[in-house]
Amino acid sequence: MKHHIDKTLLSATKIAARIEELAQEITDDFSDDGEITIVPILTGSIIFTADLIRQIKLPMRINLITVSSYPGSAIRSQGATVLGQQLGNIKGSHVLLVDDILDSGTTIRAVVPLLKELGAVKVRVAVLLNKNKPEAAGAPCDFVGFNIPDEFVVGYGLDYDSYYRNLPNIVTLKGV
Ligand code: IMP
Ligand code: MG
Repeated sequence: MKHHIDKTLLSATKIAARIEELAQEITDDFSDDGEITIVPILTGSIIFTADLIRQIKLPMRINLITVSSYPGSAIRSQGATVLGQQLGNIKGSHVLLVDDILDSGTTIRAVVPLLKELGAVKVRVAVLLNKNKPEAAGAPCDFVGFNIPDEFVVGYGLDYDSYYRNLPNIVTLKGV
């Protein structure tokens, strides 16, 4: 791999502490809804989802959707494409959509209407990171782990050209 880690933006310890708070906020929000349907947006949200859902003390199912917007080594959104989904029957369900990062907002703006078309009665969106870009202003986003500067980050599920997802910290890269 040509790139090297530049600096740590968020440590694993800091991420874990914030996820505990987020899980409590989400538990409170869904506590009257019977059960939650968790919809992680693959692949970037796998680690965030794994840590988050183990702290949500409510009955849940997990249904998957795969969306690609940064194919290969792209570092700008190329538009969201739904590559596949195993949403099953989500009619009447209360959904928590989980993504790693809110960047241009294209992904969330594409997936939320799809969930509603399939009959979800409640859709909340949780993202670990938010770059607060003006173009994402119209994208619904209910739970945010951290607001971060507009830099390309990897680790804790986030990738560059499919690498670095396994890094425990969220870091920036040199030369990207
Ligand atoms: P959006 O559709 O532009 O909001 O982008 C969301 C998706 O782009 C995320 O789910 C990530 O997969 C990817 N993405 C956006 N920013 C970054 C980044 O800084 N590092 C790695 N992936 C990113
Ligand atoms: Mg993603």
